[in-house]
Amino acid sequence: MSENAPRPDDFDFTDPDVQDCPYEAYRALRDQAPVYRDPRTGQYVITRFDDLRQVLLDTENFGNGGRRAVDPAALSERQRRMLAVYEEKEGWLPEPTLAARDDPNHRQMRAMFDKAFRPGKIRQLDPFVESTANRLFDAFIDEGRCDWVRQFAVPLPLIVIGHQMGVKEEDIWFIKRATDAWVRRFGQMLSEEEERECIEAEIDAQHYFKKVFDRLREEPDDTLLSDLVNTEIPEWGRTLTDGELQAEMMSDTFVGGSETSTNAIAEGVRMLIERPDLWAQLKSDPDAHLRTFVEEVLRLESPVQVLGRVAINDVEMHGVTIPAGASIGTRYAAANRDERRFERPDEADLERKNPMAHLTFGAGVHYCLGAPLARRELYYSFRTLAERVDELWFAPEKNDFRHHPHMFLRALKELHIEFRPA
Ligand code: HEM
Repeated sequence: MSENAPRPDDFDFTDPDVQDCPYEAYRALRDQAPVYRDPRTGQYVITRFDDLRQVLLDTENFGNGGRRAVDPAALSERQRRMLAVYEEKEGWLPEPTLAARDDPNHRQMRAMFDKAFRPGKIRQLDPFVESTANRLFDAFIDEGRCDWVRQFAVPLPLIVIGHQMGVKEEDIWFIKRATDAWVRRFGQMLSEEEERECIEAEIDAQHYFKKVFDRLREEPDDTLLSDLVNTEIPEWGRTLTDGELQAEMMSDTFVGGSETSTNAIAEGVRMLIERPDLWAQLKSDPDAHLRTFVEEVLRLESPVQVLGRVAINDVEMHGVTIPAGASIGTRYAAANRDERRFERPDEADLERKNPMAHLTFGAGVHYCLGAPLARRELYYSFRTLAERVDELWFAPEKNDFRHHPHMFLRALKELHIEFRPA
């Protein structure tokens, strides 16, 4: 390491510029402070591949916060005011999601979700994903240009997950308003007034979803949501309550299942324009290269940059004692570029051996439930692009390549492209 190399403290992860391009910061942390106590957030940030994998697999020492809902004693005045909005507007207070539970409670709930999202069921969605991708292309292909984020990367996953979660296609932009609000709030960069507006948008969506739950209880169908609404968890002796379902709709399925895939679909196209050799390779033989390309996009541009764990016991790593109760930052995106694990980690390589061995979807018991669906969405997005477009480039002077400011997710705001149709 050179003497002039930047130091971990030079970077502020709450700064939108660092969020826009965090890779230099990640390298500094991996090299100099693999267990880094962030002075601004108090979090212990893990950035090396092997360390992160160890944390994710070690559920004895690292939990997801238990199944406790918010502890009223620990709330700030502002948090109390925000929770009161749910009561005022007759919404459902946030319940612990699947992702926020620990075993045995998590295992019991996850078994039911695994059954709903079983591989055979997800495979059946292929024709719908592919035809949706083509339909979206039909709307702009003749113009030779589009905002790839707004006209493709956002609607595709939203329509696919909406179709499975009881949301009609004409209503997806109404739901998007609520998921955007949820994501902004999760990003922890809002004023109180803005946060209140976000909660109100979430509550509007809750009222919409409540009608869907009631309908599916009366008339079950073959959607994923119908299974989630109607399947009893044997150990609990009951199905999920409206409040538990509401939490899953917003955070685990709509946000978890659309904002994330959107970001990868957007960054993948940016990557193809920046690297014409990749585009040429993909075009020459999509069957040979598409699956690896999807994995390289996921590894290099991890849509979920970081989530968290809570230390259950005191744990020592790299000479740092992480005290019980401390919050851990699981920087998937940093681990995915760890030179100790990957050769030429910053480069997309369509010949990479074992391309699925990244941590973009986590690892262990909380491994992303939607990974097979996300992979299909990316696959059909890039496949349709390769089939319907011969050449593509950035629209001149229209892109600043900025991302939405966010502590956890990395999402391009827009991506204006032009192309020559096939
Ligand atoms: C590119 C797209 C996606 C990315 C990058 C992503 C990433 C992640 C990550 C990092 C986790 C946490 C893993 C851990 O804690 O170790 C997770 C969990 C989860 N994801 Fe995804 N996800 C994506 C798509 C989806 C989709 C399409 C769905 C559902 C339709 C989904 C639903 C979930 C759920 C329910 C969990 C919680 C699982 C549990 O705690 O047992 N995700 N995802």
